[in-house]
Amino acid sequence: MSLQYTAVGWNRQKRVYDSVLGCLAGGYLALFTALGALFHPIATAETLLIRGLGTLALLMLHVILCIGPLCRLDPRFLPLLYNRRHLGVSMFLVALAHGAFSLVQFHALGDVSPPVSLLLSNTRYGSLAQFPFQPLGAAALLVLFLMAATSHDFWLRNLSAPVWKRLHMAVYLAYALLIGHVALGALQSEPSLLLAGFLAVGMTLVIGLHLAAGWKEHKLDTARTLAQADGFVDVCDVQAVPENRARIVSLSGERVAIFRYDDRVSAVSNVCQHQNGPLGEGRVIDGCITCPWHGYQYLPDTGASPPPFTEKVPVFRTQVIGQRVLVHPQPLPAGQRVAPACITACGSKERS
Ligand code: HEM
Ligand code: FES
Repeated sequence: MSLQYTAVGWNRQKRVYDSVLGCLAGGYLALFTALGALFHPIATAETLLIRGLGTLALLMLHVILCIGPLCRLDPRFLPLLYNRRHLGVSMFLVALAHGAFSLVQFHALGDVSPPVSLLLSNTRYGSLAQFPFQPLGAAALLVLFLMAATSHDFWLRNLSAPVWKRLHMAVYLAYALLIGHVALGALQSEPSLLLAGFLAVGMTLVIGLHLAAGWKEHKLDTARTLAQADGFVDVCDVQAVPENRARIVSLSGERVAIFRYDDRVSAVSNVCQHQNGPLGEGRVIDGCITCPWHGYQYLPDTGASPPPFTEKVPVFRTQVIGQRVLVHPQPLPAGQRVAPACITACGSKERS
């Protein structure tokens, strides 16, 4: 959490991450160009490098797109989220190298400037077989640039979370443009079964994982809950909420994270103020609900971040009656204190 702009800190964890990523990327490019030279002896080193960088960027984009749904399906993937934006910026740099090399290789020797040549050298938009696929790659690169340039939390604060989130959802637009770039271009000019196979498997994986995660969340959102006369809803057994962790339920269309800690139960909105991370998949650490994505923290009884931080999430009234947890679906203003419901010590019928 940061109050104002601070440059990205390359802590030990990030340095190790970058070194591993650098080695993997270098290894991939070396292998790609070596195998390319073996199986396509007529291809020049420049062509192999351009193709290697392009496929590497696309591979990285697939990994990035799979991380979100994987984490929603199984919390064991959550550590991957920590460096997802870092991976996104690295992917953009690889894609930029591919785009820049292509511009130099295919558009720098003519009598017009490379960007003009990129846009105007082929205008056969009516032909599927000769479709101008390079502008599709350039449009995708532009979207990826906007995302990489605004990836720091500084922009998240200045643009506001909803605008930032909408901008970063454009990654799916970039993905669609790139599928067009490869399917209408590279695959048509020089058909490769391997590239076509990888693209098909990659698309199936991305779409399949998103559908599976969407279905899981749909089931949670449509689970039936019954309201009592006082408006409280019986949501689950106390034992169903693990100590220092939460159970997520859907009440009146909103996801609520019910936390159990220190013999108490509190409920807050499941949506983290940082980047909409699922608070209910986090833990209570040092008395604070800690978001699993980037570690923003909130006090369970007020939903407010501990000072000096200022983020707040809405809180919900809770009761524990017998062994059952009840939650009122009407959220209270973010930051308003609600006494937690006690499980045993304060009497099982106490109302908060
Ligand atoms: C200004 C932007 C771009 C330009 C001018 C461009 C240009 C090209 C060209 C000329 C090729 C054909 C290379 C060949 O077959 O020899 C190609 C292929 C490819 N591009 Fe791009 N591209 C751009 C952006 C991107 C981006 C952003 C990505 C991915 C993130 C990408 C991924 C690919 C892939 C995967 C291939 C297929 C490589 C292969 O045939 O093995 N391109 N691009
Ligand atoms: S989404 Fe980043 S800390 Fe919660």
